[in-house]
Amino acid sequence: MKRHTWNESGKAVLGGVIFLAGFALALVFGWVIFPGLLFSQKNQPINFSHAAHQDSSCEDCHTFRDDGTYTGIPKLENCVQCHESQMGQSEDERILVEEYIQNEKEIPWKVYTWQPDNVYFSHAAHKVKNVACTECHRDVTNEQKNPAYKENRITGYSSETMKMVECEKCHAQKGASNNCEICHK
Ligand code: HEC
Ligand code: HEC
Ligand code: HEC
Ligand code: HEC
Ligand code: HEC
Repeated sequence: MKRHTWNESGKAVLGGVIFLAGFALALVFGWVIFPGLLFSQKNQPINFSHAAHQDSSCEDCHTFRDDGTYTGIPKLENCVQCHESQMGQSEDERILVEEYIQNEKEIPWKVYTWQPDNVYFSHAAHKVKNVACTECHRDVTNEQKNPAYKENRITGYSSETMKMVECEKCHAQKGASNNCEICHK
């Protein structure tokens, strides 16, 4: 009798161990392996350190044009004034000067938060209401190294492309419109 109970509980313990092992495996797949498989990682053409450029203001490189549209990523001409020739020892700066500036070739920066063509987004509308950059972008102020750009292998979107629900959530909170035509023109 005693032995029988031991057997039963032994089986229960074993079953529990097997369950836990399967559960742990599923967690490892869901949290570690699957995201790794889902996203392919790409680096920026050269590393851009926002921290090294803290003497400039954001508006020196990210500006609104007179018509209210946003230039976003700066062009090479914004770099030439200071990097006509190399001033430091960094390999990234050498590539900037020798491969891009001397060949007058624009740097193909990846935009972490780019939106698909069917979405209309304007920085101007958000600037008027003073929505902080960090509500929608990571904080780059002290960033020395660009994070990897992660592309979803199925949708082709960046992992940082804002989802529709996130736009709508803030619009609802701040009393901005959530009519489809506002964002899909
Ligand atoms: C000297 C020029 C320069 C200055 C000054 C500068 N930036 Fe940038 N910024 C860049 C370049 C080049 C990139 C593209 C590479 C990258 O993502 O780091 C970029 C990218 C960004 C991005 C990423 C956008 C995306 O989705 O890919 C954000 C956000 C940003 N800058 C915010 C700021 C803020 C806020 C400031 C002021 C604190 C600032 N930048 C100052 C040149 C500059
Ligand atoms: C107002 C002058 C100025 C402008 C404009 C400017 N830079 Fe710089 N940049 C600097 C200075 C100064 C340093 C060195 C800072 C340091 O290393 O401490 C630097 C350093 C760098 C470095 C090497 C930093 C490192 O640690 O790897 C790169 C790469 C670079 N800049 C890229 C750019 C690009 C790309 C642009 C245009 C979007 C740009 N810079 C515009 C002044 C400028
Ligand atoms: C309400 C959200 C929001 C705010 C606030 C915001 N951005 Fe953006 N930003 C975006 C989105 C969305 C994109 C992608 C736009 C696209 O692909 O059409 C973007 C793109 C960019 C880009 C890439 C270039 C481009 O135009 O595609 C830069 C650089 C940038 N933002 C900088 C800034 C800076 C600097 C601030 C603060 C002054 C800021 N953003 C505030 C949502 C925002
Ligand atoms: C953190 C808050 C916040 C987020 C996130 C946000 N918005 Fe907005 N948005 C606002 C506010 C505030 C306004 C200004 C509403 C007003 O003018 O009354 C606005 C206005 C707009 C407008 C102009 C509306 C008009 O009436 O002309 C568009 C277009 C827009 N947002 C698109 C987007 C898209 C697309 C996204 C997601 C990629 C997004 N927004 C994310 C806060 C946000
Ligand atoms: C505040 C901005 C905003 C509003 C309002 C909005 N959308 Fe979107 N929508 C987006 C953004 C950003 C995306 C792209 C990102 C994504 O797929 O989540 C998107 C994507 C979509 C897609 C494509 C999904 C896909 O996977 O490609 C459809 C369909 C869509 N929206 C329909 C609608 C309809 C219908 C409404 C009105 C009920 C609406 N949207 C209102 C911002 C908005």
